[in-house]
Amino acid sequence: MELASRTLGLLGAGNMAEALARGVIKSNLLPKDRVIASDVSDARRELFAKELGVRAARTNREVLEAADVLVLCVKPQTIEEVLKDIGAFFEVKRHLLASIAAGVPTRRLEAGLPAGARTVRVMPNTPMLVGLGAACLCAGRHATEPDLRAIETLLSSSAVVLRVEERMMDAVTGLSGSGPAYLFYLVEAMVEAGIREGFTPQQALQLSTRTCLGAAKLLEETGLAPEELRRRVTSPNGTTQAAVERLEADGVKEKLTAAIRRAAERSRELGQGP
Ligand SMILES: NC(=O)c1ccc[n+]([C@@H]2O[C@H](COP(=O)([O-])OP(=O)(O)OC[C@H]3O[C@@H](n4cnc5c(N)ncnc54)[C@H](OP(=O)(O)O)[C@@H]3O)[C@@H](O)[C@H]2O)c1
Repeated sequence: MELASRTLGLLGAGNMAEALARGVIKSNLLPKDRVIASDVSDARRELFAKELGVRAARTNREVLEAADVLVLCVKPQTIEEVLKDIGAFFEVKRHLLASIAAGVPTRRLEAGLPAGARTVRVMPNTPMLVGLGAACLCAGRHATEPDLRAIETLLSSSAVVLRVEERMMDAVTGLSGSGPAYLFYLVEAMVEAGIREGFTPQQALQLSTRTCLGAAKLLEETGLAPEELRRRVTSPNGTTQAAVERLEADGVKEKLTAAIRRAAERSRELGQGP
């Protein structure tokens, strides 16, 4: 199942599907005529057809007819409806189905498809929209090594990709899936603090955003541990030390780790399904 010789079918043409399609086209992984997407919304189909230049279908069945690598990109609560829709047209030998639906286990995908269906579960995150996603994937019971490689290749155009066991997927959701929101929350606090210190909201946002972006780039490009990078900006008795001591005294790290654990638990709860 090499991706280059396949046709990609996106079931649901929402934000994440758009990120995937843009990544695939921009990186020349597939030509536009080998990408097809379906959506119930006229506006989304129009965007895919006019802006991305790919085939946009009204029905999911058309996607199964045209494509062999399928990516389920609808909301978790719509999964069963779409599986019911495509089950009769799914060919076990021909089709591979990956799902990006948060918290939906491969056994729920398999339950809605013919016996032996090859499935892959993916947890991406929204920075995929700007080509900087972090995604994890795991195999369903029947997915093969080439199947996993095909989905890895597909995702790598807009994200870094890690393979994990399925039992880790809720933790992935808690850490990198919901992760961007934790950073946005931090930026909200930084902006509020900046405004209190006398900056305009725009200045505070610009400084805070760039600080996050630059810090993340330093982490990635130097390969240094966050503790080490933090140590390098913390001079004895200086400003950073004063701030970090305050964070430590208030137990902020424990609160953040508890919040991530809660997100993972919530993913487990939601994954139970209907
Ligand atoms: N956004 C994130 O942070 C994130 C991160 C990781 C994973 N995910 C997962 O990615 C998936 C997609 O998220 P998203 O943010 O891209 O959602 P989205 O923008 O709502 O996209 C879903 C699209 O599917 C359409 N749709 C609904 N029912 C359909 C059907 N029966 N057949 C075909 N299309 C249908 C929706 O149309 P209507 O809007 O008209 O219903 C919508 O355009 C979700 O399962 C989510 O869990 C999202």
